[in-house]
Amino acid sequence: MWSSMNVEKEPVKVLVTGAAGQTGYALMPMIARGVMLGPDQPVIIHMLDTKKAAETLNGLKMELIDGAFRLLRGVVATTDVVEACRDVNIAVMLGGKPRKDGMERKDVMTMNVSIYKAQALALAQHAAADCKVLVVANPANTNALILKESAPSIPEKNITCLMRLDHNRAMGQIAEKLKVRVSDVKNIIIWGNHSSTQYPDVNHATVATSSGERSVRDLIADDKWLNTEFITTVQQRGAAILKARKFSSALSAASAVCDHMHHWLLGTPKGTWVSMGVCSDGSYGIQPGLIYSFPVTCKNGQWSIVRGLKIDEFSRAKMDATANELIEEKSLAYSCLG
Ligand code: LMR
Repeated sequence: MWSSMNVEKEPVKVLVTGAAGQTGYALMPMIARGVMLGPDQPVIIHMLDTKKAAETLNGLKMELIDGAFRLLRGVVATTDVVEACRDVNIAVMLGGKPRKDGMERKDVMTMNVSIYKAQALALAQHAAADCKVLVVANPANTNALILKESAPSIPEKNITCLMRLDHNRAMGQIAEKLKVRVSDVKNIIIWGNHSSTQYPDVNHATVATSSGERSVRDLIADDKWLNTEFITTVQQRGAAILKARKFSSALSAASAVCDHMHHWLLGTPKGTWVSMGVCSDGSYGIQPGLIYSFPVTCKNGQWSIVRGLKIDEFSRAKMDATANELIEEKSLAYSCLG
């Protein structure tokens, strides 16, 4: 709670949009308990949702107060986007219009374009200058792209989308298969879109064993499983959870949000990378400007794409397929942006 000089850190203001939903409910106590920003970092939580959800949001505020969280220095629950964005250092965008039965992709995109345009402008005008943004609501990569295009004053480097959920899912599948601790698995990569075209890649992944680090491909030695079932399980995990729970994943999504922000702000451990949806600079032949998931390391609050990894033909085809889907989504979003 106190630094070595016995001075309490300034609270960090964290905005969560769409806060009254299930992911918001799982996420709030994690933020208030320091899971996202560390056990010595006070926080002020700003929660935004629609007028329809105002009562629920107010109930959540009451619960946060009742939780007596020692790091929580304040809660703002509002339906006003300007009040929500004021001076925030971190913005977690859970709010958006998910696709429902019978809806066309274009309809969802049109609604999300107007939501993300408005929120981008409010963030650009009212958030702290170095505010770091994480888009979670689907289509996450393209919502992040809309936000980036609508608010050019927000540095591109500060706009990301959540791929850590897929990254963690892939780690979980490998740990289950090998019966090892998930914390011993590292350097999996999710390439591309947070959709069923994403490519979970284990070609560079390792597991810590008593005889040192071993490659996942050597340990599993079942290329067929790794190249088929493993990939589709990770790609389809969101749909499987939706089917089982009748609601989208919320707990694992909230935990992944904390992991994403934690590593972005506090750094990735030495020799380890994570997957983040970030603005492509053309690395690995991915169209510049797309919000695409790459392996990244983080230091001093900045992410950098891991360069120079060897890409085989199988991976290349899968990386291009998911990039092509993002290019299509981008042109749809641009047509909605007018
Ligand atoms: C997930 O991956 O669990 C979600 O993105 C699925 C969804 O559509 O909400």
